[in-house]
Amino acid sequence: MTFPDTKYMGSKQNLLPFITQNTKNLKFNTALDAFSGSGCVAYAFKEMGKRVLTNDFLKFSYHTTRALVENNSTTLSDQDITELLRKPRQAPDFVRRTFNNLYFDQEDCEFLDNLWANASQFNGSLKRSLVLAAAARACMKKRPRGIFTFTGKKGWDGRKDLKLTMRDQFLQAVKLFNQAVFSNGKQNKSFCKDVFDLDPKDTDLVYIDTPYISPYSDCDYTRRYHFVEGYSVYWKGLEVLLIPTHFRHFGVGDFRLLGFRERPDLKLRKGTLFFE
Ligand SMILES: C[S@@+](CC[C@H](N)C(=O)[O-])C[C@H]1O[C@@H](n2cnc3c(N)ncnc32)[C@H](O)[C@@H]1O
Repeated sequence: MTFPDTKYMGSKQNLLPFITQNTKNLKFNTALDAFSGSGCVAYAFKEMGKRVLTNDFLKFSYHTTRALVENNSTTLSDQDITELLRKPRQAPDFVRRTFNNLYFDQEDCEFLDNLWANASQFNGSLKRSLVLAAAARACMKKRPRGIFTFTGKKGWDGRKDLKLTMRDQFLQAVKLFNQAVFSNGKQNKSFCKDVFDLDPKDTDLVYIDTPYISPYSDCDYTRRYHFVEGYSVYWKGLEVLLIPTHFRHFGVGDFRLLGFRERPDLKLRKGTLFFE
């Protein structure tokens, strides 16, 4: 099976041979990947035939592991894909209104608005996780370095990934996700929780790969991936934060997008939230 990898910050995709080599002789039935991120390590444990529990507090990460680790058999059919691509009679326009030409052009933004409307038919199901995981991958592939800390075309080179339309990226992602679905005969489960709210009972191996906190590096996952994270819930309950140009030394354009905040009591600390 081929895991549809991305350039997710801190991904252990390249270390998988080391991780599997060093765990294969340990005796365990159930593994918990407590900070699952891209999901590649959890997926590798699934491939080893273990029962796998995954967790990440980011929703798009949760949908990825739910689509590929928890899910043992569901795929998106040709009929599903046709319905996802049709022009809906009614669609919301939040992506177009808020992000037009910041990360993607109008056509790509409209595609995402329409996709959100069409995906509502899969409410809560594994198919919905497949759609949202594929959409997140498509969006990340269409950004230089796969991140959302800067707007515009900085880093935009001739790569095919950047030139493909969002529709084509999405179709490619759906194909990869469908191909990666398999059963290991176990009841695997994905969670989307703060790690401190997890109950690790019934687990005999816990894999812990936290963010690497350092004064010299950026380990703020919400800031890097705010667009795909926001899209996973269509920004429901979230407030998008903008910063005006007079903090120009931090960025380009009329304003920089900082991401979003979830709680009104979280104060915006100007100049400290991003540093690219
Ligand atoms: C270093 S990455 C994990 C990378 C992953 N092992 C992989 O190979 O892709 C750390 C992950 O921890 C998640 N995270 C950070 N704080 C968390 C918390 N309090 N609870 C749950 N997940 C958290 C982040 O969203 C991020 O995906």
